[in-house]
Amino acid sequence: MARLYHIGFGPEDLGSPPPTLALLSGDPHRAAQIAHTRLTQVRALSENRGLNSYLGLLPNGRPVLSATSGMGAPSLSIVVNELVQVGIRTIIRVGTCGSIQESLTLGSVAISKAALCRQGAANDIAPPEYPASADPFLTVALVEAAQRLGIPYALGITASVDTFYEGQERTDSANPHLLRFLQGITEEYRRLGVINYEMEAGTLFKMGNVYGFAAACICGVIAQRTKAEKPILEAKDQAVQRAVEVALAVAERFA
Ligand code: URA
Repeated sequence: MARLYHIGFGPEDLGSPPPTLALLSGDPHRAAQIAHTRLTQVRALSENRGLNSYLGLLPNGRPVLSATSGMGAPSLSIVVNELVQVGIRTIIRVGTCGSIQESLTLGSVAISKAALCRQGAANDIAPPEYPASADPFLTVALVEAAQRLGIPYALGITASVDTFYEGQERTDSANPHLLRFLQGITEEYRRLGVINYEMEAGTLFKMGNVYGFAAACICGVIAQRTKAEKPILEAKDQAVQRAVEVALAVAERFA
């Protein structure tokens, strides 16, 4: 098989034994940072379109990919489809999110057991009512790792939406007209027990169920939406660091 058009590498670039697990970051810098600080024998596979992908070894010697989904479900859907084409069978999204529950605090991590999937790309893959559920085994492993590492976490339902501003009910933005169906939606989700907002997990989970690969998601909490709209940059390093720590511990078990 030739190189895949978007991710910029093919199965023949993956060595032997090839990786079957990918850590998938939205941000190419996070994918690079995970590879260069936490893996050994790292090789950059491609930096095509900012979809940076690195092949490296975990501390247990197993190969793993640190790849980039880009922002939002359309980009993620392309990357994930191509990762599965090159042989990836387990994907852990390592992202950031905004908490909508008081108890899920800045700097902690949110582990998604399922998503309320309000994402257009997912509708091209399965009907809207198709379950956006995470792989249960990977998800329990993320919880166990967070507990073992003493990292504060919440396990719950994630709202995955297509827009950072309108879809997450941000009014402090360039758009002066928040549609009526979005006004009050955060409070409604909060009452329904949804724990956080992010922009990729729902589509990833539906793809996992349709294609037959294992998908999970852990996000560092960088905004506390019960208090403010803006992400808090001072919280980001710790939140991301914790999410990476937990994801790597699980990768060691499943790679
Ligand atoms: N990512 C999101 O989608 N929302 C947030 O509030 C923070 C990160």
